[in-house]
Amino acid sequence: MLKSNRDRYGAVAVSIHWLTAILILVLLGSGFQAANAVDAAVKTPFLRVHISVAIVVLVLTVFRIVWWWLFDLKPLPVEGSPAWQERIASWVHLGFYIVVLGMAASGIGMMILSGAAPAVFGPPGAALPNFTDYPPRVPHGLGGRLLARLLAFHAGAALYHHFIRRDGLLRRMWYGR
Ligand code: HEM
Repeated sequence: MLKSNRDRYGAVAVSIHWLTAILILVLLGSGFQAANAVDAAVKTPFLRVHISVAIVVLVLTVFRIVWWWLFDLKPLPVEGSPAWQERIASWVHLGFYIVVLGMAASGIGMMILSGAAPAVFGPPGAALPNFTDYPPRVPHGLGGRLLARLLAFHAGAALYHHFIRRDGLLRRMWYGR
């Protein structure tokens, strides 16, 4: 089933969810590696991966918003979940959208202001700008740390449902009927 129903997520939502999860891990890894690299020969390959994957995540996120907004409906909360936990979950999910879109915007802002695209994607050996000279670098750094924390909290909550409450929450974010 492509679309979600009252009890579980559909194949489109499941695919976007897990693909984005993997790609965000790649973004956090390549972003921190790029930021910590001193040598342009080390930093540039990380940035190539980082920026290309970030564009895919941006497209997937916009598609995900349109998909939810126009075509799909969220399943109901799992049974026995207290209202306050559902509220926190909704805030965390909204937080992901805001932080991911903010990261994409600040990343694009950094690239436009610094004019670094030819150095990153052109022939190897070009000098890179110092990205900390550009204001969007500040929210990009803070957002990356916030995203890593949101991710840990979100994954922790999913594992709590799976192993402690045993309410099948994780299973409904996978393919099946
Ligand atoms: C969409 C989600 C994105 C995520 C989750 C993300 C994540 C990160 C993280 C965690 C860092 C390291 C920050 C630090 O150590 O303070 C970073 C650095 C960086 N990101 Fe992103 N990023 C995203 C999008 C983008 C985009 C769209 C671009 C450019 C078009 C971009 C360009 C950069 C650059 C140039 C750096 C290195 C800054 C430096 O060397 O100081 N990012 N990113």
